[in-house]
Amino acid sequence: MSDSEGYIPLIDEEELEEGKMKAIRVEGKPVLFIKQNGKIYVIDDRCPHMGCKFSGGSLDGNAIICPCHEWRFSLESGEYEEDSNYVLITYPFKVVGGKIWIKLEEDF
Ligand code: FES
Repeated sequence: MSDSEGYIPLIDEEELEEGKMKAIRVEGKPVLFIKQNGKIYVIDDRCPHMGCKFSGGSLDGNAIICPCHEWRFSLESGEYEEDSNYVLITYPFKVVGGKIWIKLEEDF
């Protein structure tokens, strides 16, 4: 069920705790919700390097660190800090009625 803009409601905003991640699958895609420094981020849970799950990694400042090779990606720009050719996938989202709605992009 999506709204007229293609957003679908997924989790309650209050399920997200500061400094924590929450991984779910949506239409076969691994989606990762993050709340860090009071901001929400919604990203694909697969590292653009070799596909490891970010959800097994950690958060540090405004970076997420992949568990496999410890690459650090900026949550703001999505870029790997040492090579901006590697960019994680972010999903557009909005918070309406206490729920976080996301828009899945077309397949990639
Ligand atoms: S798979 Fe993420 S850093 Fe290598």
